[in-house]
Amino acid sequence: MTMTIYCEPGPEPTFPGSAEPAYAVAEASQLPALLTERPDVQLVVLGPGVPLAEAVAFTTRQRVERPSLGVVLLRDHVEVTVLAEALRAGVRDVVAAGDRDAVDAACARSLELTRRLNPEAPAAGAQVVTVFAGKGGVGKSTVATNLAVTLAGGGRRRVCLVDLDLQFGDVGILLQLPPERGLADAVGMAGRLDEDGVRSLLTPYRPGMDALLAPAGPAEGDQVDRELVAELLEVLRPMYDYIVVDTPPYVSDQVLAALDRTDWFALVVTPDLPSLKSARLTLTTFEMLQYPADRRLIVLNRADSEVGLTVADVEKALGQPTAVLMPSSRDVPLSVNRGVPLAADRPAHPVARAMAELAARCGARDDDRARRPLARLFGRRR
Ligand SMILES: Nc1ncnc2c1ncn2[C@@H]1O[C@H](COP(=O)(O)OP(=O)(O)OP(=O)(O)O)[C@@H](O)[C@H]1O
Ligand SMILES: [Mg+2]
Repeated sequence: MTMTIYCEPGPEPTFPGSAEPAYAVAEASQLPALLTERPDVQLVVLGPGVPLAEAVAFTTRQRVERPSLGVVLLRDHVEVTVLAEALRAGVRDVVAAGDRDAVDAACARSLELTRRLNPEAPAAGAQVVTVFAGKGGVGKSTVATNLAVTLAGGGRRRVCLVDLDLQFGDVGILLQLPPERGLADAVGMAGRLDEDGVRSLLTPYRPGMDALLAPAGPAEGDQVDRELVAELLEVLRPMYDYIVVDTPPYVSDQVLAALDRTDWFALVVTPDLPSLKSARLTLTTFEMLQYPADRRLIVLNRADSEVGLTVADVEKALGQPTAVLMPSSRDVPLSVNRGVPLAADRPAHPVARAMAELAARCGARDDDRARRPLARLFGRRR
């Protein structure tokens, strides 16, 4: 989880990047106190209204006091002289405030560097969330794509979406990504995969989020075996905060390799008898494999279906409470046609909100309660 402060004078300035910062302050002079209060802050973004001299003084001081802290400077126009002076002071990036993508990229880069520099940062690496169902068409890929986008939070976290539906994977289509590279290209590297090798297989999607696409056809899919999947996940783990795995509608050898390395089991169910029956079988299998019960998250998709069973029926049949209820919405197939998951451009949509709940259940909380009183305490005193 990342903690960012945005410093910009003026009433209610809007942050020009995608990831809403945890705090906003109006003056650079307020930053040291807030930083003392919050040792978990990793990035300070200085807005275009912060005078260059103040930005330089602040950054110079942090370079000594807190070298792992990143400072990104935004300017209305990036001039070479400003750039040189800022970088000399230790600013990690100077970007145009009007260039949202550049702001996102600079923030993501700085957060990444902080993680590498900060010895206290947890080295455990990514948590693996596997989206599963013993049945086709219940919404696994919908959940996996939207969850990955949500977890990435516009660049706040690093997320890799892995399409383990090796025969018919459609993550590439759902995200409109070019089928240029992916899992199939890992076959030749089996047994000697490293970070650079894995990076050459990834397709970047948005700030903080990459995809590892399924092979183009079933024949190539067969070559990606269980050992290779295990090897891939081990190499990916230290590179990301979350790995989201989309799966085919059955437990293959390759899926087992992922399940064995999974921290959160997101089981997608729809409120009908065939889906419930397969979900029960899946839960029994998980039981046998001794996957921890408190890591199973039941996602009830199409929870509002009028012809379907009630939430209570589903919970009774599964012997477990549902974690998240996701409604049916024609916006889901529409979003597929547009190639943009709802979570990417309509965060207030009920489907996106369900995914935010699921992300929170997987431990991705943004510390909202802690932030409000502090923001008030330190915010906008001019
Ligand atoms: N909540 C929803 N509301 C409306 N349509 C949905 C919803 N969830 C999924 N769908 C639609 O149902 C279809 C199947 O969804 P999806 O591809 O996510 O399922 P899947 O479990 O991955 O399928 P497969 O087993 O074939 O991989 C898609 O057309 C998708 O747009
Ligand atoms: Mg699918």
